[in-house]
Amino acid sequence: MAEFRANAGTVTRMQKALLEWYESSRRDLPWRRSRDPYAIWVSEIMLQQTRVAVVVERYQAFMARFPTVAALAHASEQDVLALWSGLGYYRRARMLHKAAQVIVADRGGLMPETAAELRRLPGIGGYTSAAIASIAHGEPVAVVDGNVERVLCRLAGWDASGGKGGTDLRNRIEAMAARLLDPERPGDFNQAVMELGATVCLPRNPQCLVCPVSASCKTRGEHKTAPRPRIATREVAHALSVRTPRAMNGGDPEVLLEQRPDVASVMPGLWELPALRDGAGEADDFRMTVRHAIMQVNYIVRIHDVREEDLTAQTVAGGERRWVSLPEAGTMALTGLARKVLRRAHLLPASNPDSEASEAGVLASP
Ligand code: ADE
Repeated sequence: MAEFRANAGTVTRMQKALLEWYESSRRDLPWRRSRDPYAIWVSEIMLQQTRVAVVVERYQAFMARFPTVAALAHASEQDVLALWSGLGYYRRARMLHKAAQVIVADRGGLMPETAAELRRLPGIGGYTSAAIASIAHGEPVAVVDGNVERVLCRLAGWDASGGKGGTDLRNRIEAMAARLLDPERPGDFNQAVMELGATVCLPRNPQCLVCPVSASCKTRGEHKTAPRPRIATREVAHALSVRTPRAMNGGDPEVLLEQRPDVASVMPGLWELPALRDGAGEADDFRMTVRHAIMQVNYIVRIHDVREEDLTAQTVAGGERRWVSLPEAGTMALTGLARKVLRRAHLLPASNPDSEASEAGVLASP
């Protein structure tokens, strides 16, 4: 594997081409209108493993509710999870919340400014610290995420397909990222390379004809493509149980939700629809089928209407259950699947279909 070699003139030309392209072609995303390190931090955490369209919608609601580090630190975990609903990978939300509490407790609510200090906070690693420090404070540190890795490997002609390369390749990529970084505009430069990977230098279908650095690229479409991850399919069934308790609250409908237990659960603390027992419900008597991806699994979810008196016989008790009014359900920390089902059943207001997420928002076409 040859080193990436470029003389100072070539590097300057690539920086200029990338920055000019970024100026004219970048997507207008809400977090790009701000230099507030907190706003950038929230966006960068949300963007990890979640599609931009999903993040755009959730980001604005999250920032409206928690506009500052202090507001986030003082919120309850359930409120934070509720606002994270649909973004998936809920551990990210818990770490963000925890780090905000550390910033308030130890630093009076002021975020650290350097990448090295940011990295000491829970949930902030090399990628996030470099993104915040370069974008918000202009620190010349290079960001390396999956998109940047792909762009740089193609530019240099390195074969990263099938996970080849290991630490040696990773070190080369980091050295190349540092060599190419424009120290005058590190935030814009980092975002330009990430943006190129997200919109032009695509994994399977690179748009080399519109690439601003194709003249300096060793592969120009001749790259090797990493194999698609294997995606399993699984069928599950859940109960949609809605009742209208006349005497209790004037007849407003309530839906039955169950909270995932804190131990041995993938999404502890989140609320979902109760699971149907194996063999319960007629196989062809379901209300709807919903497709939902969680990490590397595509779920085919059958939703059965279950009457209140049949719940014990037909569902598996998995955690605390509550009957909640529909407006309250809308504010709770629902799993992405529960929110999707309630929306499709017209029990919650619809969302923009482009942003209706799978749990990680990445894999399936719903
Ligand atoms: N992906 C994650 N963060 C990004 C950013 N700031 N710009 C472009 N793509 C990104």
